[in-house]
Amino acid sequence: WQFIRPKDRSLPPVVFHWIPFIGSAIAYGNDPINFLFRCREKYGDVFTFILFGRRMTVALGPKGNNFVLGGKVAQVSAEEAYSPLTTPVFGKDVVYDVPNEVLMEQKKFVKFGLSIDNFREYVGMIVNEVETFMNTDPAFKIYQFDDINEWGSFHAMKTMAEITILTASRTLQGREVRENLDKSFADLYTDLDGGFKPVNMLFPNMPSEANRKRDKAQKAMSDFYVDIIRKRATGNHEHDHDMIAALMQQRYKNSRELTEREVAHIMIALLMAGQHTSSATTSWAFLRLADNPDVTEALYREQVEHFGTGEEGKFQPLTYESLKTLPILDAVIRETLRVHPPIHSIIRKVVSDLPVPPTLSAPSKDETFVVPKGHFILSSPAVSHVDPRTWKDPLVWDPSRWNDAEGVAQQASKAYSDEHGEKVDYGFGAVSKGTESPYQPFGAGRHRCIGEQFAYLQIGTILATVVRKVELRLESGFPKNNYHTMITLPKDPCDIRYRRRHFD
Ligand code: HEM
Repeated sequence: WQFIRPKDRSLPPVVFHWIPFIGSAIAYGNDPINFLFRCREKYGDVFTFILFGRRMTVALGPKGNNFVLGGKVAQVSAEEAYSPLTTPVFGKDVVYDVPNEVLMEQKKFVKFGLSIDNFREYVGMIVNEVETFMNTDPAFKIYQFDDINEWGSFHAMKTMAEITILTASRTLQGREVRENLDKSFADLYTDLDGGFKPVNMLFPNMPSEANRKRDKAQKAMSDFYVDIIRKRATGNHEHDHDMIAALMQQRYKNSRELTEREVAHIMIALLMAGQHTSSATTSWAFLRLADNPDVTEALYREQVEHFGTGEEGKFQPLTYESLKTLPILDAVIRETLRVHPPIHSIIRKVVSDLPVPPTLSAPSKDETFVVPKGHFILSSPAVSHVDPRTWKDPLVWDPSRWNDAEGVAQQASKAYSDEHGEKVDYGFGAVSKGTESPYQPFGAGRHRCIGEQFAYLQIGTILATVVRKVELRLESGFPKNNYHTMITLPKDPCDIRYRRRHFD
């Protein structure tokens, strides 16, 4: 501990590494959770590691989450951390290409489109897309043949990626996007997505074939949305329940309307923000259900209890209101997001020297650490979510732990107080939206996700629709995590076996 302390005693300890520029990139890149837990054992809750020449100061635990997510705009910046990755993909003048106060206004515009009225319309549309997919896509061939004894199989990730984009485009993205999904839009999406890689955060503007394709696709997709906006400006679209319609009605505080390009680029940002996060969560949820047939059965029984018609296999339609009254479905999603949060690291750039509060990590009574301007700070929901100091049997996927959500919160608060001699109150259900919560799949603070309700609606409707029709089993062992992509995904093989439900 002593010898790795930097000469400047105000700096946090630096993780030991052999190769100067590369630092801990390989250990962090291959398995960030394991790496961060190992570092915490050696260095405590606050330490710095080197990532291709960048100084990343990690802050763990609830106070660490608060330090990163509760940071003031004058001290920490999300846009300086993320924009090299996001601006070439989303386009100019939105999200991290604008000052924080403009992003805050743009998030309000999007919230306007994520209204309960719209959500009510979406549930039936999502059910319809999933049912059509199951009735026509080769992934569900066995289901279509109506052979109740044969098992088929689908690739969790590939299948959920398709279902997610079909359902998101039918609802939020709007009719024109959905109609073009089988045509030009799909290729544009593939090329744009090919340039949405973590490496671009570290080495922006690196000339590569993938980035050349990304730039071309960004321009074409931006034009595609602008074309929709222009066409809509002339017709009668009062009845459109999608995000384009919502954004076209918004004005900034200075009463300026959004430009066509701003609307187009916000739409691209939402497409990218929702696609991988939701499709990864749905894939993990199905993999967990396939691995736990008893939970799948409980989930099915919940559907029968709430929507059964008395005739097995026949159900009343799902609705927005009824989705909110299904505790098992809710717990399955909540627990999946605990064990498999799509975003494992949240990053900010330090823009003015940032003292670390003594309650988080004080090297001694008269010293405090300072994270200098130019460093990055990092918090990890994925570490908080499986921290044995907070959770009982943290690595076990057990939705029933959420039956007593208040108990989870009390247990977590007590575990923290016992260890640190200091009180925290996580609030109801350990899922408080506070920056100190140990449960943050959607982040917290000013950059908190605005897509949470939509994601629950989309994922919940997909899970319920599929579970009503088929039983699930895992094809082989439970897949490991692939951390090399933007979002934590299941590694291959991740096939799920399914069989049409038996109704006598
Ligand atoms: C922000 C997770 C779905 C739009 C975030 C953040 C997280 C997150 C962790 C905070 C990032 C940070 O602080 O650096 C998730 C998960 C999702 C999901 C786990 C699904 C399971 C969606 C969807 C949308 C969306 C469906 C759009 C409809 C956004 C936006 C932000 C955000 C606009 C704000 C960025 C900011 O203020 O800096 N999300 N998200 N997300 N997400 Fe989501």
